[in-house]
Amino acid sequence: MIIESPITPLTEIFNPLFEQKQIKFFIKREDLTDEFISGNKFYKLKYNLIEAEKLGLNALLTFGGAYSNHIHATAAAGKKYGLKTIGVIRGEEHLPLNPTLSSAQENGMIIEYIDRKSYRSKYDEGLIQTLKEKFGDFYLIPEGGSNHLAIKGCAEIISGITTDFNFVCSACGTGGTLAGLILGLDSKHFALGFSVLRGGSFLYQNIRTLLSYYHKENLNNFQINLDYHFGGYAKTNAELNNFCAGFYEQHNIQIEPIYTGKMFFGLYDLIRSNFFPPESTIVAIHTGGLQGLQGLKQRKMI
Ligand SMILES: Cc1ncc(COP(=O)(O)O)c(C=O)c1O
Repeated sequence: MIIESPITPLTEIFNPLFEQKQIKFFIKREDLTDEFISGNKFYKLKYNLIEAEKLGLNALLTFGGAYSNHIHATAAAGKKYGLKTIGVIRGEEHLPLNPTLSSAQENGMIIEYIDRKSYRSKYDEGLIQTLKEKFGDFYLIPEGGSNHLAIKGCAEIISGITTDFNFVCSACGTGGTLAGLILGLDSKHFALGFSVLRGGSFLYQNIRTLLSYYHKENLNNFQINLDYHFGGYAKTNAELNNFCAGFYEQHNIQIEPIYTGKMFFGLYDLIRSNFFPPESTIVAIHTGGLQGLQGLKQRKMI
């Protein structure tokens, strides 16, 4: 299987604030990787799909919440590359299926629900064995898609950045994307992550563990900002929603409040408070996630 990484635009955006602080600001449009396998998901899945094929496995099994971008993308990738997909979803079934799960199902994903308690120990051998008995052998992709092959893929995002820059930035859920960016960077560049979860300090350990596969756990050219989670994972408020809407109006680039909205909000705030030295060039990675907008609208969260 050959999966070519796409060439996505690097778009400079302008704002009087950037001018005042002498900042150059680019967005790497990874939301445009693929209509369905969007954003960081494309890069996270790329080498995992290749590995599944190498191992002779024709099914992917993975875990996620009911609105997961990763579930959505894995289903689409399975359809595109001819692999069976099984999505193990946290919690019980709600019918009709929400937009994320109905798209996953349309793409052929088998949806299996497990209760929240069992979900917490989802990688236990017993549960994996039960799943194998039920579905046959499969290639296991962890929740959020973050493993050493995912970070190998995400490192490729860096080689697609065609301008000189000082900071590369990403929203962080599991830290896999940021770990990949760090892996792809050289030491004169700095990676800045924005935790979308409350209590995101665990991300440092996650990232070091992922980097250790490549003997890069001692890299220090990164930081995770913990101040823009807006109350926790999937939490939003009017201020963040208005920021996302205003961003779209101003730049004609859609963002969402679960991941990229928190990063862009944080970036604007840090620019305002002089976190970035004058003459800095920032590249913010648009990691996609736009499939989630429909579900957010349906739940009246935006
Ligand atoms: C749109 C989007 N951006 C950023 C992230 C964060 O990625 P990671 O879990 O690799 O930190 C995710 C979750 O995977 C996501 O769906």
